[in-house]
Amino acid sequence: MDFSSEIEKRGVSRRDFVKFCTAMAAALALPSTFASKIAEALEKAQRTPLIWLEFQDCAGDTEALLRATKPTVAEIILDVLSVDYHETIMAPAGHMAEKSKNDTVKNFRGKYIAVVEGSIPVKDGGIYCCIGGKSAVDIIKEVCGSALATIAVGTCATYGGIPAADPNPTGAVGVKGVIPTATVVNIPGCPMNVENLTATVVHFLTFGSLPNLDSLGRPLFAFGERIHDHCGRRAHFDAGQFVRRWGDEGHRNGWCLYEMGCKGPETFHNCPVVKYNEGTSWPVQAGHGCLGCSEPMFWDKMSPFYRRLPNVPGFGVESTADKIGAGLAVATAAGLAIHGIGRAISKKGSKDKESAE
Ligand code: SF4
Ligand code: F3S
Repeated sequence: MDFSSEIEKRGVSRRDFVKFCTAMAAALALPSTFASKIAEALEKAQRTPLIWLEFQDCAGDTEALLRATKPTVAEIILDVLSVDYHETIMAPAGHMAEKSKNDTVKNFRGKYIAVVEGSIPVKDGGIYCCIGGKSAVDIIKEVCGSALATIAVGTCATYGGIPAADPNPTGAVGVKGVIPTATVVNIPGCPMNVENLTATVVHFLTFGSLPNLDSLGRPLFAFGERIHDHCGRRAHFDAGQFVRRWGDEGHRNGWCLYEMGCKGPETFHNCPVVKYNEGTSWPVQAGHGCLGCSEPMFWDKMSPFYRRLPNVPGFGVESTADKIGAGLAVATAAGLAIHGIGRAISKKGSKDKESAE
């Protein structure tokens, strides 16, 4: 059955499919004219096997994929890609499940995609996570080592995430921490946004290549700009209108959450643009500050979550994660940051500013 018939069978109209392709072009920062190229590529896409591995995780990324109320084009694409192994959703169990995975690795060497969810414990010989008698470390080496590409989804698989939080009892790391030479696309987030996984896969199916990445291995189309640069509350930040207490007048009016600890100024993610749950909402829209969940070691680096950032390195829509990394080495960055934040806050007065710390 071809792709068009498959999506129709699952209740997705042609109109919805075209809308999806247009949204994907936008997500990938391509002109809308690319929508037809994407549609054409998806309709002709060859079956590419996919192995979805889960290690030290909460299955939140799988949930993000499956949470839709009806089958989405995103879900169907991954299905059409042929998910040969996925512990949470596959029908076979035990030896049969392991056989599916081993057959794919053996028969499609260098031609399948691996998706990894959850961190990999390397301490004490990797004994803290074993599946089918093998450690997660050995499974990663075997599966990702022979894959065409690996997509690490969620902050655990990308950078170790919550299991790696101090004191990191299992020695949890992300995929690259186990197999540094593998081709890995990192799609962090707690959980990842399925739109970004889909757009990465769509990019691969359309252009035959992976999207451009930043120095942390994240696709630039999704992690090239800060939350703060596209936040719907940004006008309030610039106007010095801050929430000072949960439920206060500013909170009820949708003002900026910077004083409540929002990490949007230091977090690179497209949450304000694509949102979660089929574009329904995202943390800041729902009234809570960003925790910086897509940044490496966010649990340690971004906490206390409700204390405001002391300063903001780099300041302006031109900044990228890489530039900020470079900027940290330059003493003037701190000056710029203090100036930017100070300018906004001074409008409300220093007395109020201290009260939220
Ligand atoms: Fe939005 Fe947070 Fe930036 Fe305020 S500090 S504008 S809430 S991202
Ligand atoms: Fe995470 Fe912040 Fe987005 S907490 S989901 S990166 S708004």
